[in-house]
Amino acid sequence: MIRVSHLYHSYTNDDNYAVKDVSFEVERGEIFGFLGPSGAGKSTTQKVLIGLLPLQQGEAIINGVDIRKGSGALLNSIGVSFEQANVYKKLTGLENLEFFARMFDVPTEDPMKVLKMVGLEDAAHQRAGSYSRGMLQRLVFARSMINKPKIWFLDEPTAGLDPGTASVIKDIIWSKKQEGTTIFLTTHNMFIADELCDRVAFITDGALNVIDSPRNLKLKYGQKFVRVEYIENGQDRSEMLSLTSNEDRKRLAELSASAQIETMHTQEATLEQIFIRITGKELR
Ligand SMILES: Nc1ncnc2c1ncn2[C@@H]1O[C@H](COP(=O)(O)OP(=O)(O)OP(=O)(O)O)[C@@H](O)[C@H]1O
Ligand SMILES: [Mg+2]
Repeated sequence: MIRVSHLYHSYTNDDNYAVKDVSFEVERGEIFGFLGPSGAGKSTTQKVLIGLLPLQQGEAIINGVDIRKGSGALLNSIGVSFEQANVYKKLTGLENLEFFARMFDVPTEDPMKVLKMVGLEDAAHQRAGSYSRGMLQRLVFARSMINKPKIWFLDEPTAGLDPGTASVIKDIIWSKKQEGTTIFLTTHNMFIADELCDRVAFITDGALNVIDSPRNLKLKYGQKFVRVEYIENGQDRSEMLSLTSNEDRKRLAELSASAQIETMHTQEATLEQIFIRITGKELR
């Protein structure tokens, strides 16, 4: 559904690349996570794929169409949710969606239905300019699905949302996947990625490090940890110890002998820990 090969992008048109030699494929109906810290090149890649930035070097085929050639059919088949609020502040939420729906030549969703899905029905007749940040973000998300996209590009769809709203967005993404939508999800939220993505790509400094399913990554790079909670000198303390590290095993024996252990749980490595292990970088 999406095939990208050897994609490069330089904002300065020199060999200072924001994205370098990025290649990946996304299958129909797959949720593909693009994960990396701030400045890694996630949004740049998405912007090239949706035609907001020119394709300078490399190749990208979306739904069988070479994006260099572009086409109306391609625009009709993709939905894009940006980090920035690309809606009209003077129009109401409903007017915005009605306006954007008219830009497509394909059957669109009922704007009110989509507003309801994201919990904005009560604010439908309020100007977008009076929306809170989280409301605007939901409106942008609603806008991105107005044309019933076959391929959906989502840039940080849950950033800054409260957990309840984030979970509503997550459920909508999940149900669209069930309907066969192909989803390219950009995020630095490892929990969302772990829950939703069939496969993830780790990107740092413009380059991909690894592409695999969260499960395979855990099997391959995850090590078992034990979380030990104990009381020492009357104070609650806790430590994460790796079962494969000799030093940590020694520490565990020490704790068992000296401290008053409250609980001990084994934990699988999280996707975030694996990210740090593979890329050597934090996800900020
Ligand atoms: N319009 C621009 N002009 C010049 N450089 C840019 C521009 N947009 C992004 N960059 C640079 O390109 C690199 C990649 O930025 P990008 O926005 O793709 O990162 P990101 O992974 O989306 O980060 P974030 O998680 O903060 O959204 C960064 O070094 C950034 O400073
Ligand atoms: Mg970004």
